[in-house]
Amino acid sequence: MSLDAHMPIGLFDSGIGGLTVLHALRRRLPQENLIYLGDTARLPYGTKGKETIIRYSQRATQKLVDSGIKMLVIACNTATSAALPTLREQFAPLPVMGVVEPGAAAAVAASRNKRIVITATEATIAGGAYQEAIRRRCPEAVVIGRACTLFVSLAEEGWTDGPIAEGVAARYLEGIFGDGPERPDTLLLGCTHFPLFTDALRHVVGPDVRIVDSAATTAQAVEEELRRRNLLCESGTQGTSRFLVTDNIARFMRACGYFLGEEIRQDDVALVDL
Ligand code: DGL
Repeated sequence: MSLDAHMPIGLFDSGIGGLTVLHALRRRLPQENLIYLGDTARLPYGTKGKETIIRYSQRATQKLVDSGIKMLVIACNTATSAALPTLREQFAPLPVMGVVEPGAAAAVAASRNKRIVITATEATIAGGAYQEAIRRRCPEAVVIGRACTLFVSLAEEGWTDGPIAEGVAARYLEGIFGDGPERPDTLLLGCTHFPLFTDALRHVVGPDVRIVDSAATTAQAVEEELRRRNLLCESGTQGTSRFLVTDNIARFMRACGYFLGEEIRQDDVALVDL
């Protein structure tokens, strides 16, 4: 496998949520060409078992590798938690980056009292990769994980604020953010969809809690890794983004509005089978 600075960066997610990572990459590395695969046919990954998530992730990665990429970004917390070591080994020497380590680094940097709450999918919380990554950086950290499954469907409906989103957030976080010395000071959004709920979560946790997500720190980690390997594209022209989806282009394009904050062109999206 020969890697070249002019090749695109490949990203994959279980569907559309990884567009928040694509958005952060476009802002940080505007000259890079990106190719994004959304496995909309198999969404959600967050309620599936580990072996299944690994199998789906291998297929998605193979598709991107076949189209020629210089780096893989697993833009999905669930897939990162379950499949990162397998993908690194299987696709070496391709650089493979996930969102968990950058997210854990952001949470540890943000927290003063080292009491950190992780919100994520069921599979991510059960897998324990975030908890492990935080404790590796900060062994005395108190880490509380909460699976917030409903947020994924709500985000895809565009119901990310107002009384419904706030009620769901309050229910999931019940009993965690009380007064007193045990009160966590940091909330980590360990799922691609959850940055859309920042206002609703803020309403529930109050103004003093730091809310962090992994998109921006992942983009920074990608830049550092590309620089280290001499793979940064220095073309000086604006990069392009192409999209591959495994089902329902129309729904994907609609959701792009919520997740990317902009429309994408139909010509830039193709239906693929894995
Ligand atoms: N992309 C997934 C994640 O970040 C959320 C959606 C799903 O469950 O597939 O964990």
